[in-house]
Amino acid sequence: MAGSVSFFFFLSLLFISSIHVESNGEGYISLDISNKGLDFMKEFLVEMAETSLVPLDLPKIEKSKHIPIIGTVHMVLSNISIDNIHVISSTVKAGDTGIVISVSGAYANMTMNWEYSYSNWLFPIPITDNGKASIQVEGMDVGISFNLTNVQGSLMLSPLDCGCSVKDIFIKLDGGASWLYQGLIDAFEGRLSSAVENAVSKKLREGIVKLDSLLQSLPKEIPIRNIAALNVTFVGDPQFRDSSLVLSINGLICAKEAYTAPPYHHLFASLEHLLASIPLKDPASMVTISLNEKVLASASSVYYDANKMHWIVDKVPEQSLLNTAGWRFIVPQLYRRYPNADMNLNVSIYSPPHLIIREHQIDLTVHADVVINVLNSGEVTPVACFSTAVSGSASPWISNNNLGGSIGLDELSLSLKWSKIGNLHVSLVRALISTALRTVILPYINIKLSRGYLLPTFHGYMLQNANILCSDSWIKISSDVASVNQLFIS
Ligand SMILES: *[C@@H]1O[C@H](CO)[C@@H](O)[C@H](O)[C@H]1NC(C)=O
Ligand SMILES: *[C@@H]1O[C@H](CO)[C@@H](O)[C@H](O)[C@H]1NC(C)=O
Ligand SMILES: *[C@@H]1O[C@H](CO)[C@@H](O)[C@H](O)[C@H]1NC(C)=O
Ligand SMILES: *[C@@H]1O[C@H](CO)[C@@H](O)[C@H](O)[C@H]1NC(C)=O
Ligand SMILES: *[C@@H]1O[C@H](CO)[C@@H](O)[C@H](O)[C@H]1NC(C)=O
Repeated sequence: MAGSVSFFFFLSLLFISSIHVESNGEGYISLDISNKGLDFMKEFLVEMAETSLVPLDLPKIEKSKHIPIIGTVHMVLSNISIDNIHVISSTVKAGDTGIVISVSGAYANMTMNWEYSYSNWLFPIPITDNGKASIQVEGMDVGISFNLTNVQGSLMLSPLDCGCSVKDIFIKLDGGASWLYQGLIDAFEGRLSSAVENAVSKKLREGIVKLDSLLQSLPKEIPIRNIAALNVTFVGDPQFRDSSLVLSINGLICAKEAYTAPPYHHLFASLEHLLASIPLKDPASMVTISLNEKVLASASSVYYDANKMHWIVDKVPEQSLLNTAGWRFIVPQLYRRYPNADMNLNVSIYSPPHLIIREHQIDLTVHADVVINVLNSGEVTPVACFSTAVSGSASPWISNNNLGGSIGLDELSLSLKWSKIGNLHVSLVRALISTALRTVILPYINIKLSRGYLLPTFHGYMLQNANILCSDSWIKISSDVASVNQLFIS
């Protein structure tokens, strides 16, 4: 039964691919990222920012200040560096003004070197000193907003606004004279705060630009098993609806050979561990992936072309039907020509399965030719051919990362294409073919489908708590995304 893998296989191909993508308009796959999904992405971005922003070096600051008793002191802060940043709470909002991520009450730890010099009438030779200091920055609020648009099929991220404000700065000196602390605070507190604010805003803006170039560099096609490619070209602008984000991609599958690994692989790999730590709390699903039946049709045709389907059926429960003796009284001419010869059925599907998605099920129609072969002293002689249309319905399910389903048979229509043994009773042949379908072919497919197909993980991520729902022309899968590691721990 080579090539007997059912159309569910097509579905699994699709889901694999659609996980990486998002979309509207004439897009056949759309991804509706809920608030929870946006939150997940935000956590990801915030963690990425925490690690990639630091160490952040700030420019040197100098100032001369009059200090009572001592005189005018020239002070320099150098090697100012933000070593770590901790975000305590953050929010994300998607709306007409773009996507806004706000962070409140973050803190940062900094280090710097200080030095001063002064001379006065008492000490004509300049007095200098230097040392280190650590700084705690508290109550840091950061807001960043960016627009997400479609430029020639890729997503473009453009920073709209980016701001940072610092509430408190605490300096702890390592050494120095007693007057120095107050002197530094008076001279530099405001300037340090604004240096931090400027540096963080600038670095975040650069971060958005980098993320944008990553998005632009994503391929527009994703290979599927070396036989096909999913067109992941974005269609239409991203839509913001009820603070969820809807993205559409073309989503059709076409035949393609031999691919090399996509170049962005290592990038995702290095970020995997970040996601592993993000807890899932909210019962709502993060994303809803909608697939149009045209996607199934494109997959069905590519998969069909790559893997023409035939079966040779040589065993049925009523084995006498597969011997000319069983047909002796009904098709006497067959028995006369080939007495007591075994027969088999050669079933070939000659066009891609046709799929229509309806409420709660997928209707499928398969057109096949069934050739009746007689096996006569080692020779295979085709004696008649029927053209058949088999319609059935499939109910897919998804459980953990496993996609499966079952197929039921609805209708079988049959017509004689040619015959070397005269006219045949179509109704009798129908009984034979229908028996073969119900007792051999369908159970075989259904056993495979009931085990399900494990959906591959995408860079360490997989679907969790997924639900599948069929409705007019669309399949919708609502799901969380979780890291594989996280699932194994919990
Ligand atoms: C500047 O600070 C870094 C660590 O923050 C340190 O490794 C480096 O030695 C410092 N440079 C100077 C000149 O103090
Ligand atoms: C975002 O980009 C779209 C398309 O270019 C534009 O129509 C919209 O006004 C932009 N939004 C903002 C807030 O700039
Ligand atoms: C960093 O700052 C926080 C609060 O501002 C403080 O609790 C923590 O001890 C600091 N860490 C280091 C390494 O200085
Ligand atoms: C992929 O989809 C885009 C947008 O619908 C379309 O313009 C493009 O021609 C498609 N590419 C292929 C290879 O079909
Ligand atoms: C079955 O039918 C197909 C096409 O009709 C043909 O190519 C193939 O050789 C046949 N196989 C057998 C074993 O009869």
